[in-house]
This record gives sequence, structure tokens and C-alpha cells, in this order.
Amino acid sequence: MSDKGGETVPLLAARDLVKAHGRTEALRGASVELRDGELLAVTGASGSGKSTLLHCLAGIVRPDAGSVTYAGQRLDELPEKRLSELRRTEFGVVFQFGQLIPELTALDNVALPLLLAGAARTEAQGEAGEWLERFGVRGQGELRPGEMSGGQAQRVALARALVTAPRIVFADEPTGALDSLTTEQVMTALVRTVREAGTAVVLVTHDDQVAAYADREIRLTDGAVAAQGVAA
Ligand SMILES: Nc1ncnc2c1ncn2[C@@H]1O[C@H](COP(=O)(O)OP(=O)(O)O)[C@@H](O)[C@H]1O
Ligand SMILES: [Mg+2]
Repeated sequence: MSDKGGETVPLLAARDLVKAHGRTEALRGASVELRDGELLAVTGASGSGKSTLLHCLAGIVRPDAGSVTYAGQRLDELPEKRLSELRRTEFGVVFQFGQLIPELTALDNVALPLLLAGAARTEAQGEAGEWLERFGVRGQGELRPGEMSGGQAQRVALARALVTAPRIVFADEPTGALDSLTTEQVMTALVRTVREAGTAVVLVTHDDQVAAYADREIRLTDGAVAAQGVAA
């Protein structure tokens, strides 16, 4: 939490988000707050609007109505250039299938965001190696995504999302393609790493095993928040 005039404000706050895809109303007045360093799970049935909410919160998609405020700035009103700059420096994103670049090694995939931000190659690779180490996949650094297991690839994707030291990581079903044991290993590595770095996380999942790692859970039903509370 940050302190503003004696009043605590959330790091990220969305109010009354509405978003339609064609004639489908994916979000119908969803509101959510994320505190600094908090691990928030967003759960709900398939089609309940979880991914759309995550995309709006991360500034990937603009809502049709409602507001998204990050550290005092209205993301939904920022010009595209400033929004993409902010996304690149303050946010990290992971999807169900890591979406690593198939031609690059694990090390180069993780180094890429640093290179894009202007880092020198040796520095970027050094930093990337440390993040692979934190996720227990340093030994896979020279492998390309097609040569890794699903769990290894997701650890590399998480390392890539965290390498720029973002304030928030947005993860959409990051363990959705993994078995239960691998899910546990990946989640343990994620939680340890974000706690160390103080990173806040929005974790979309339909898996109770995954939601149990969160500080708090909100559940979406038909594009609105149906329930919230402390994760079991
Ligand atoms: N690009 C799209 N085009 C059309 N409909 C979409 C699109 N993305 C999502 N939807 C629809 O919006 C609703 C919410 O989708 P989504 O946010 O992906 O939910 P969830 O992630 O919970 O499964 C669903 O009915 C889905 O079919
Ligand atoms: Mg989804």
C-alpha cells in the first residue's frame, strides 16, 4: 500500500469495468483493487471474464466504460505510447502457454526484455541467468522452448516476466497446461520469488490448488465480481 495524504490507496484499482467483445458482454461492472505486494487470485468458470479483466487491468485492452488507476494514473486514459512504455517497465505478463520465442534459447528469451530496454548483452544475459536460477532452470539456459518440458517453459516465462523488476505481474492461467505436481513446483517458485522482490501479482486461475497460494481471491460470475475473501 502506498500512503497519500494519510489515506492508504491501492496500487491498482479498477472500477465498474464494462467490456464487450462484439455482442458478448465479457465484463459487466467489475471492480477490483490490488495492494502493493499482494498476490490476488481471480477465479471463475470458463467464460466468466477473467482474461478480459486481466487484459483491462494490464492495459492490454481498453475497457468500454469504467476506470483503471495505477499508482495514481488513469491507464484507460493514457495515450498508447505512454501506456506501452508503462507496461514495458512496470508490468510483467505470463500466459497459459508461456509464449516464449521458439527460435531463442531460454537465456535469450529472459534477456530480451532487458535488451529491449537498452541493456548491454552481457549484462542482460547475466541478469537473465540469475532469474533462471531463481526459478530452478539455469541448467536449461541453452535450450530452446521446444526442447523443454511444459513446467520448465513456464518457469522461463515467469523469469522473463520478472526480469525487468516490474511492480505487478499479470499471469493468465500460468499453470493451466501443467500437471498437479509441476503446478505445485512452479507456484512455489513464483510465490517465493515475488515475495522476495515485493512484486504484486494478479493470478487468473480456475484451479483451487493455485488460488490457495494467493493472499486474497475474487471470483467472477458473468463479468462481475461475485465473491471475495481470503483464499482457503
Ligand atoms: N476476442 C473475443 N471475441 C469474441 N468473444 C470473446 C473474445 N474474448 C472473449 N470473448 C467472450 O467473452 C466472454 C469472456 O471471455 P474471457 O474473458 O476470455 O473469460 P475467461 O478467461 O474467464 O474464460 C466469453 O463469453 C468469451 O467467449
Ligand atoms: Mg481466460
